[in-house]
Amino acid sequence: MHIAGCGQRTVIAFVVLAVTSSPRAMQNNIITGSPMSVTGTVTRVSAVVGGEAELPCDSRPPQRNDSLLLVVWYRDDNPVYSYDTRVPGPTAHWTDEPFTDRARWFSTPSSGLRVHNVQARDRATYRCRVDFQVSPTRNYRIALDVIELPSKPVIFDEYGKEISGVTGPYNEGGDFKLICSVTGGTPTPRLQWLQGDSVLTTLGAGDLQPSGLTRSLTLVIRNATRSHLAAMYTCTADNTLLAPPQKASVRVDLYLRPLTVEILSREQPLSVGRRTELLCKSTGARPPANITWWLGGKQLKSISKQLEDANETQSLLQWVPLKEHNGQVLVCRAEHPKFNRSTIETKLPLNVYYKPLCRKKEVRLIGAALQEPSSVVCEVDAYPPPNTFEWTLNNSVGFIKVDPDRFTVEEKEGRSVLTYTPVSVDDYGTLSCRATNLAGQQTSPCLYTMMPATRPDPPTNCTVYNLTHDSLDLMCLAGYEGGLHCVFIAEVWANEGLVVNVSNAAALWNLRRLGAKRQLRIIVYAVNARGRSEHVSFTVETAPRLAPRTEAQEAWEVNWALGGVLGAAITVAVILCLALIITRLRQRARDYEVTIPTLKNQKVIMPKRNSPHGTDDRNPDLIPLSKEVNIMRD
Ligand SMILES: *[C@@H]1O[C@H](CO)[C@@H](O)[C@H](O)[C@H]1NC(C)=O
Ligand SMILES: *[C@@H]1O[C@H](CO)[C@@H](O)[C@H](O)[C@H]1NC(C)=O
Ligand SMILES: *[C@@H]1O[C@H](CO)[C@@H](O)[C@H](O)[C@H]1NC(C)=O
Ligand SMILES: *[C@@H]1O[C@H](CO)[C@@H](O)[C@H](O)[C@H]1NC(C)=O
Ligand SMILES: *[C@@H]1O[C@H](CO)[C@@H](O)[C@H](O)[C@H]1NC(C)=O
Ligand SMILES: *[C@@H]1O[C@H](CO)[C@@H](O)[C@H](O)[C@H]1NC(C)=O
Ligand SMILES: *[C@@H]1O[C@H](CO)[C@@H](O)[C@H](O)[C@H]1NC(C)=O
Ligand SMILES: *[C@@H]1O[C@H](CO)[C@@H](O)[C@H](O)[C@H]1NC(C)=O
Ligand SMILES: *[C@@H]1O[C@H](CO)[C@@H](O)[C@H](O)[C@H]1NC(C)=O
Repeated sequence: MHIAGCGQRTVIAFVVLAVTSSPRAMQNNIITGSPMSVTGTVTRVSAVVGGEAELPCDSRPPQRNDSLLLVVWYRDDNPVYSYDTRVPGPTAHWTDEPFTDRARWFSTPSSGLRVHNVQARDRATYRCRVDFQVSPTRNYRIALDVIELPSKPVIFDEYGKEISGVTGPYNEGGDFKLICSVTGGTPTPRLQWLQGDSVLTTLGAGDLQPSGLTRSLTLVIRNATRSHLAAMYTCTADNTLLAPPQKASVRVDLYLRPLTVEILSREQPLSVGRRTELLCKSTGARPPANITWWLGGKQLKSISKQLEDANETQSLLQWVPLKEHNGQVLVCRAEHPKFNRSTIETKLPLNVYYKPLCRKKEVRLIGAALQEPSSVVCEVDAYPPPNTFEWTLNNSVGFIKVDPDRFTVEEKEGRSVLTYTPVSVDDYGTLSCRATNLAGQQTSPCLYTMMPATRPDPPTNCTVYNLTHDSLDLMCLAGYEGGLHCVFIAEVWANEGLVVNVSNAAALWNLRRLGAKRQLRIIVYAVNARGRSEHVSFTVETAPRLAPRTEAQEAWEVNWALGGVLGAAITVAVILCLALIITRLRQRARDYEVTIPTLKNQKVIMPKRNSPHGTDDRNPDLIPLSKEVNIMRD
């Protein structure tokens, strides 16, 4: 090649010589090697770096019988390429730096020099000299404009982080910035932000920017809406039509607030105690919203299912409504953890029906005398309020529905009052009352046992608690109250007479001011409108006084003790005698009575009852010393 190159140079030298010596060239006033002599117009050719450029040069002879002899290309008056028609074979073409291996003369359809892999340094004005056999030499000037493309744009977020592919996620309603940055490019490139085909903003080639080689263009999106989700933003940079613009794109990811929340199964009313499933759905949030259920300010447990694709969350509430939930508001709330004020909610005022229920669960005993009207009150809890009541009597005779005339119905109060007058023994038995509301008929009726009214049974199993020098607590088991309201009475007797008389609605008494270390007899019984129960009596000794004693107290105690010793023998004798007489006299009496002697001798005579323990006559009572002592009847 080197040798061939030498040969070619020789040829050129010859050609140049031949041309300069050509009289026709002189005639045409064309001086070779002088750009001044080249005719007027300059053909402009643009090519992109790395691309191909065709520098046109018309080599057709201007007249017939003429033919092309030689073409020489000059850059700055230095030959860089030649084509000699007279040399056969490949050596007809000669190339020099900087076109080595990159340029080739072509002749069809028109002629010119094709340059491959155009370089920035190829930017120049070239001269093409065409020699003919006959016609005078021609010169053309071709300016090659080499376009350097800008770099591919790079997109940054507002914090300078390079983004590839997806940007965000940003918050719906927020603002965000995208910065497109491009380096290089000759001529200066134009930058644009596009969404689809529409141009959002442009930085023109003429717009000045301070930072030398790098140009950048910022896109600002304010108040991002859901339409911005998955929006594709493209930044382009272009400085020629010869090449497509350089591009980079990003897709926007957004957090979206929940749009809707609804409770799907709104069937009402619900029923107390029946397991209920409610479904709440929220859509629109991205990622799917967080659903919670609330009732009366408290969160309920639920099962959530998030459907990522469908930007939807479903939450299943499995819950058993209670009576008190009626009228409360069930709230389903959808919120998005990424937003502060995104919470939306839907409310369901609860309409909970329930089975009428008895307000008092236990069976009530009602004592009623023949021909005496008794009011039997049936009260139920129900929602909605009951509209009908049904009363029935069930006894050994049969099963009878009570005539509606005999009872009242107060719907709002959920109450019915039956005025019941037993006319014969067949009218006693079990009364039942059932209410009915929209939720149905009461399943377990309110029950009342109608019994002939009697005197109450006596209290039993009396126990003394908290015995002190001055007080004690007494508790007994109440017996059957005779079907009527009962009062329980405790009388405390000392030798001097009645010390305390206390009545109470329950068989429970707090007895005070009893005096220290005193033998006391306590009598308890129950009283109702029919009369008194049998008496139950027993003795108790109060505890000695523990506090430091005063002289007066000591004196009193000594006196009392002396009196006690003196009186003891007589008292015991009298008591025993009287007791014997009275017991005999009243052997068949149902109850035990208390004989209150005259105030003067202040003595209590307690009748005896046959003790199952067979205690002796003298002092059969057990005196409680411990905190809790069972007292045996004497
Ligand atoms: C053209 O060439 C032909 C043959 O090559 C010749 O006969 C003729 O004279 C030429 N004409 C001119 C004008 O030179
Ligand atoms: C943001 O966009 C929404 C929907 O287009 C509009 O309702 C709201 O007023 C806008 N807010 C601001 C601050 O522009
Ligand atoms: C959903 O909300 C509840 C209550 O506010 C919270 O405890 C829970 O962490 C939230 N879950 C998610 C995934 O945000
Ligand atoms: C997201 O929710 C919106 C509003 O309900 C709906 O229009 C949209 O189609 C949903 N997108 C998907 C992917 O389901
Ligand atoms: C939510 O509120 C807190 C405190 O007010 C604030 O720091 C935070 O930026 C807010 N977040 C959004 C997404 O608005
Ligand atoms: C009546 O009472 C008896 C005994 O308590 C009971 O077995 C029967 O089922 C009752 N009848 C009705 C109709 O309630
Ligand atoms: C009442 O006392 C008797 C005899 O001491 C005893 O058998 C019975 O269990 C007691 N009843 C109660 C309810 O304590
Ligand atoms: C005994 O006294 C204690 C303390 O005052 C009291 O809590 C308790 O109810 C009393 N016992 C009875 C049976 O009254
Ligand atoms: C004790 O009081 C009741 C009524 O509270 C009365 O019936 C009874 O006669 C009184 N006992 C004595 C002995 O006064």
